[in-house]
Amino acid sequence: MFAVRFERFGPPEVLSVGELPQPHAGPGQVRVRVRAAGVSPVDLAIRAGRARSPIALPHIPGVDAAGVVDEVGPGVEDGVSVGDEVFGAVDAARLGGATAEFAVLAFWARKPPSMPWEQAGAAASGVETATRALDLLDVRAGTTLLVDGASGGVGSLAVGLALARGARVLGTAAPGNQEFVESLGATPIPYGPGLRARVPGRVDVALDVAGKGSLPELVELTGSPSSVVTLADSSGPRHGVRVSVGALGGEPDGRHGLAAAAALFERGRFRVPVQEVFEDAVAAHTAAERGPRRGKLVVAVNV
Ligand SMILES: NC(=O)c1ccc[n+]([C@@H]2O[C@H](COP(=O)([O-])OP(=O)(O)OC[C@H]3O[C@@H](n4cnc5c(N)ncnc54)[C@H](OP(=O)(O)O)[C@@H]3O)[C@@H](O)[C@H]2O)c1
Repeated sequence: MFAVRFERFGPPEVLSVGELPQPHAGPGQVRVRVRAAGVSPVDLAIRAGRARSPIALPHIPGVDAAGVVDEVGPGVEDGVSVGDEVFGAVDAARLGGATAEFAVLAFWARKPPSMPWEQAGAAASGVETATRALDLLDVRAGTTLLVDGASGGVGSLAVGLALARGARVLGTAAPGNQEFVESLGATPIPYGPGLRARVPGRVDVALDVAGKGSLPELVELTGSPSSVVTLADSSGPRHGVRVSVGALGGEPDGRHGLAAAAALFERGRFRVPVQEVFEDAVAAHTAAERGPRRGKLVVAVNV
């Protein structure tokens, strides 16, 4: 099969398209013929040689994909069949494989027929992560949530899913991204030190997606470290703040969020903000590194 892959760590230019053996669906997995794959910070870190665990080369980047099921592994119980359109994510231990002709998914949900492939391809890990974080913070109707880093891939999904729960959402972003955050339905606030003076009124809970050192301020804003979750700041425990890492950390995961997000999409109450769709993975990784970010970046495959 063809795949975007790299054989040495380095800048986006180490990516190229080549032939690799096809993967196959193992127990509890499905294989899809990929239509679109998301670009995530972990893809950039792995490609640059900054992965936290050893990565075998050649490596195919991409943890999120959407496509048409063409192989169902043993023990799959949700009734998915060959020919179904799904979106999902690769196994957390593998951390790659999505930007290829075929990809193996460890969890997935059915793609609503009306959901564009690019939205579906970019959705899964961000929706899982955002759902997990909103569950941990017990975000529900009437909650006031502050998302620090609201314009990026996970932040913009967290905003949308929190609004769908009936929460009131404040979102921080760069000065140039205030209108984008407002378009998501959140009250925009410029990011950076001094948040307290810029936040109008009370905040019940806060989600730190950016990991840029705001935890003391978020604890002060909410009044308690237990009202803050970070996805990206390893200093969390020093501030009494939970660092959510998902299934790898033995936490309850947010996989149930995929089917819920699909149902919300069908009712017109949720969408996956897509900044740009690329046919060239080098350009996609270059844009992801350059910023600024307005939702997810996507690589189109098998178009
Ligand atoms: N723990 C988990 O389970 C988990 C899962 C997924 C992702 N993550 C991590 O979560 C982080 C965000 O992921 P992502 O996909 O959303 O990344 P992303 O799409 O690159 O977005 C990052 C966002 O942070 C914003 N930002 C930059 N500096 C900031 C600051 N000082 N204050 C507030 N926001 C700031 C960026 O805005 P500008 O572009 O305007 O600068 C951008 O919108 C990454 O570190 C990723 O590795 C963790």
